[in-house]
Amino acid sequence: MCGISGAVGLKNISQVLFEGIRNLEYRGYDSCGVALMNKKRIVIKKDIGGVEEFYRKHNVLQMESKTGIAHTRWATHGKVTLENTHPFTSNEKNFAVVHNGIISNYRPLRDQLKKEGYKFFSETDTEILAHLLEKFYKSSRNVEKAFIKMLNIIEGTFALAFISSHLPDHIFCAKRESPLMLGIGDEVKFIGSDFNAFIDHTKNAVILDDGEYAILSRDAYVVKNILSKDEVIKPITKIEWDSETTKKGGYPHYMLKEIYEQPQTISTALDLEASGLDDIVDLFVESENVYLLGVGTTFYVAKYAKYIFSKIAKEFFPSISSDEFLALANVDKRSLVFSASQSGETYDTLSALKHAKSKGARTGAVVNVMGSSIARLVDKVVLQGSGPEICVISTKAALSQMVILTLIAMKLALKKKVITRKVYNTHLRALRELPEIIEGVLNERSGFIHRLANKYSSSRNWLYLGRGIYYPIALESALKMKEVAYVHAEGMPGGFLKHGTLAMIDDDIFSIVFVPPPEDKALYEATMHCIEEIRARSGFVLGIHFTQQGKNQDLYSEELILPKVPSLTAPLIQLVIGQLFAYFTATSLKRNVDKPRSLAKSVTVA
Ligand code: G6P
Repeated sequence: MCGISGAVGLKNISQVLFEGIRNLEYRGYDSCGVALMNKKRIVIKKDIGGVEEFYRKHNVLQMESKTGIAHTRWATHGKVTLENTHPFTSNEKNFAVVHNGIISNYRPLRDQLKKEGYKFFSETDTEILAHLLEKFYKSSRNVEKAFIKMLNIIEGTFALAFISSHLPDHIFCAKRESPLMLGIGDEVKFIGSDFNAFIDHTKNAVILDDGEYAILSRDAYVVKNILSKDEVIKPITKIEWDSETTKKGGYPHYMLKEIYEQPQTISTALDLEASGLDDIVDLFVESENVYLLGVGTTFYVAKYAKYIFSKIAKEFFPSISSDEFLALANVDKRSLVFSASQSGETYDTLSALKHAKSKGARTGAVVNVMGSSIARLVDKVVLQGSGPEICVISTKAALSQMVILTLIAMKLALKKKVITRKVYNTHLRALRELPEIIEGVLNERSGFIHRLANKYSSSRNWLYLGRGIYYPIALESALKMKEVAYVHAEGMPGGFLKHGTLAMIDDDIFSIVFVPPPEDKALYEATMHCIEEIRARSGFVLGIHFTQQGKNQDLYSEELILPKVPSLTAPLIQLVIGQLFAYFTATSLKRNVDKPRSLAKSVTVA
């Protein structure tokens, strides 16, 4: 994915670029680098590893410059090496380029450039951009013309930016399918993959659309269409987040902070009940078939929603992992494709929605990042308002999405007269109690979960089991464990266990079972059967349940008892336990919690 930041205008932009790419590290953190304009010469510094270490090691803050760009990388083409680290310069060192995305036709272009004598030093698709700029500049003697020519021959996806010693007080940038925005200050201009790149300096942003490029200098900026070259007048978007909310606020990790923010983010989600969802519900009512989409965590949000719609609104809406959407879905103008996405930039979800649109389907989404590509693409968007989620592992955004989708299901059910107003109000009361219950669980159970996680952190194989709506909770909790602790964890429906996986049960396999409240009689009893099956084979079971202490003593190897809650919110409370268990296992194993290896928060490539 990679993060891009850039600034032009301040006396010294080194600090700004440092903060910019540090705030974007959630997009990738394999290696990083900067290109700074210094007395009409481009100076490059880059290294493998994270941003803070890089700045310290290379004294980058001491390097003075008024114009520069920076990059933090998540490797796609080419290994994590110094040679493959951005920025890349042209052979005569008059252009320095950073890029996020994939240039799909880079091979033929590279072969051609090589024939013409250009020397390559990396395995990346990006390096061709610097050489193309140099080549086209030689023929036109005009940086903008060279830029347009290059943009017109490259294929694939990109957010890219460059500086040039031919026009030293400018930044050039362009976007196609990877996010990029401008920050507009009085005597300084910024670029960034998202607001976090410049949020400390300006709240005024211009969001580039696909097929646009921009040129920025200290006092001015212009946005143009790549094909027509006409100027595009863009609205200024006011950023509502502030930098304080993106800081750790005393927590050791963003993940823990974000887990603890959930009572607040759920309250914010519930505010949408009064105002924000009627248009969306109409979309559901008007459509003959509905598909729920997401990928990674948001696929499990979509799966959860599948159960909620079935349970509350008596509707079956299939959930599909966005990356499989093309292979499965037959959509047309009678369809609604509704997705969840924290970032609003995920390539798989974005391209599924584009495909749906191209077939005439209606589209909708619940998204956390305002102004993001998905938020702008769909017919109707719900902005969930969960605030910045910095940890690569999604917690608060996912839980809020589940609450919002529950509200949508309730409203749909009411509209279809599947439930009465009285039932609706009972559900709403249950949801409104949720923030306080989660707060209590966080305060009173964290210590115990911490001890439990420490005790079992050496377990290398976990089975996460749940039946019915507890199945997506099991899947999502298992994903947390894999992502943050690098421990194998497999989510499975409780009833599926006996059809094969039971053969695995021995001393090395640890099971976590998400047990429904006993009031959910059928589901509860079915879940008990699967626990018995494991115990009969002397398997370990950690039961997360709502029954009284001591009642199930012989059943569980360990138990975590939760307060009595309505069955509507019981799975959501258990998800918080799944999040905490993964978090404390990861800290016990000394993992890089906020930036787990090989992952990135916003995957904007295929
Ligand atoms: C990446 C992240 C996951 C995330 C998924 C979907 O794979 O590592 O944590 O769940 O993208 O992201 P989205 O922003 O669309 O919710």
